[in-house]
Amino acid sequence: MPIPAILDCDTGHDDAMAILLAGRTLDLRGVTTVHGNAPVENTTVNTCKILELARLAHVPVAAGAARPLKRRLSHAPGVHGATGMDGPDLPAPSIRPVGESAAGFIARMAAEVDGLRLIATGPLTNIAEALAAGSGALESRIAGVSLMGGAIGQGNASAVAEFNIWADPDAADLVFRGAAPVRMVGLNVTRQVAATPDRRRRIRALGTRTAVAVADLLDYFSDRLQRRYGLPGASMHDPLAVSAVADPDVLRFEPMKVDIELRGEHTYGMTVCDHRHLSPDAAGMVRQRDPLEPPNAEVAVAVDAERFWTRFIDVVATYP
Ligand code: RIB
Ligand code: CA
Repeated sequence: MPIPAILDCDTGHDDAMAILLAGRTLDLRGVTTVHGNAPVENTTVNTCKILELARLAHVPVAAGAARPLKRRLSHAPGVHGATGMDGPDLPAPSIRPVGESAAGFIARMAAEVDGLRLIATGPLTNIAEALAAGSGALESRIAGVSLMGGAIGQGNASAVAEFNIWADPDAADLVFRGAAPVRMVGLNVTRQVAATPDRRRRIRALGTRTAVAVADLLDYFSDRLQRRYGLPGASMHDPLAVSAVADPDVLRFEPMKVDIELRGEHTYGMTVCDHRHLSPDAAGMVRQRDPLEPPNAEVAVAVDAERFWTRFIDVVATYP
């Protein structure tokens, strides 16, 4: 029985991949949109474009927060372009978002759907607003929050902070302190899953309208990430947050305490992951028998990239 889920996106190139993967591997009850890669107006239009392209127009879209809870608004035009999803010129969508806010839609679906998962691939503003408005009642209804965000180690928005967390760290802090179980899929694993030229060729060779659009989106995103980070191709950040629910064996998780840095001058927005109880992965590190504090998240520490790609390309092949 497919798992019921809501995807919360700042659609962007990799969010689009997450939508397509969720559309075939989960019981996708809706997509909510949030500021992030681009203004929420853009991320909403981009979401509608992808749903229409894939013939998923039956999935409701609810537009959400235009700005973070407290900090100033930031976007990522250097990576995703001014529209948030530059590259192919996809048709303007005919579908429109519902009148309900993202937070209201999440709260209503949580009340109506047993075992609902929230999968966040952008800043966590909508999730935090929904959880705060619903107080404990909503959190007790949510089976879990799977989020692409944070990192054990290097960041991208700064030396130590990953964009989705950095763009609204106060929202992230509320989510990680909340009662809903959290699975964190960070840069330390997502950057190991690259849309290499060969993988993009295999997708383009499928020849369908959706496959060609996916290849075009991945070509654009790969070019940006190759220039900026020397990566062999676009990192499949967001679809891995879907895999964490739909195909958890793609990832290996470890329980650990995760704190969000809200005050550091140089570390603002960092996910401080206490992994001292894990096997040392560098010289001089130790394996502390007990974590200092009880874990509040399952954090991805390893990924089976080939397993992910086999499933992802099979899914793309099912779209028109
Ligand atoms: O840091 C990567 C994350 O930031 C991805 O979700 C990407 O879409 C951007 O939102
Ligand atoms: Ca995203």
